[in-house]
Amino acid sequence: MYNLKGKTAIVTGSGRPLGIGEAIVLRYASEGCNVVISDIGKSMGAEFPSDAIGSTLEMEEIANKARQYGVEAITVPCDVRKSNDVENLVRKAVEAFGSVDIFVNNAGVGYLMQLVTEMDEEKWDAVLDVNLKGAFLGIKYAAKQMIEQNRGGRIINIASQAAKSGFPFASAYTSSKHGLVGLTRATAIELAKHKITVNAVCPNHITTGLGDWQNKFFSDKLGLTYEQYMARMKSNIPMGRTGLVEDIAKACAFLASDQADYITGEAMNVSGGEEMH
Ligand SMILES: NC(=O)c1ccc[n+]([C@@H]2O[C@H](COP(=O)([O-])OP(=O)(O)OC[C@H]3O[C@@H](n4cnc5c(N)ncnc54)[C@H](O)[C@@H]3O)[C@@H](O)[C@H]2O)c1
Repeated sequence: MYNLKGKTAIVTGSGRPLGIGEAIVLRYASEGCNVVISDIGKSMGAEFPSDAIGSTLEMEEIANKARQYGVEAITVPCDVRKSNDVENLVRKAVEAFGSVDIFVNNAGVGYLMQLVTEMDEEKWDAVLDVNLKGAFLGIKYAAKQMIEQNRGGRIINIASQAAKSGFPFASAYTSSKHGLVGLTRATAIELAKHKITVNAVCPNHITTGLGDWQNKFFSDKLGLTYEQYMARMKSNIPMGRTGLVEDIAKACAFLASDQADYITGEAMNVSGGEEMH
């Protein structure tokens, strides 16, 4: 366990049940951290259907689970594409808990996939806006608050194996996640003098709501059953299994702790050995 007692953590995109964001929130709560559960909250146009996003009701349910660890939890709807929303998210956390110590850019879109020759501009923009611009806004407003507090801070960006390798049908997703590692490195240098670390975590495959969509999509494209596709994926992973949301939460707990205070600008693979660079 890492003692995060009394700290405040914000996790974007943490309102979808069984997602990576929920696991990070609950791990931080179990470490004594007050938590801010944030998500887009409601469907918004064709790119953000209700079956792919975290609703305000689901955010409340996750907050209730976090409170069972004896910490305080609030929910703040925030569309990470919108500057005002992200600024408000940080403000609400400070109003509730007095500080922001840990900010996790977890919100992500991984279900808008097309071959590059068919890729709609709207879909490209939606993926880049959430996965890359959203993280830029998160870093901007979290870092401003952390600098004002003058006691350092932790920013963690949930990237992907697609930040290190290319994937078909995923030009937008792969570009956004590669870009997120670049953003991590540049801001790590800028913010180091404020004792704010910025790191990325790169999962391979986890069967969340998003992961399940991808399994169906890729098994269909490859002409495999869901089970055959999963077996093939596992056979490429040295540890012999796909990831768990808890694997990512463990990495986020470590990176948020004092144990990681000399680690910044990293893009840490959490992939059972599948990705090694
Ligand atoms: N599941 C995997 O295999 C996997 C692998 C590598 C990386 N990731 C990354 O992990 C992160 C979490 O994904 P997940 O697998 O838990 O999926 P998920 O769908 O459960 O979580 C993504 C969350 O982002 C939210 N979101 C989408 N658009 C938003 C917006 N405009 N503003 C605020 N929130 C928004 C969604 O509502 C959802 O709650 C993503 O960044 C994803 O790219 C996932």
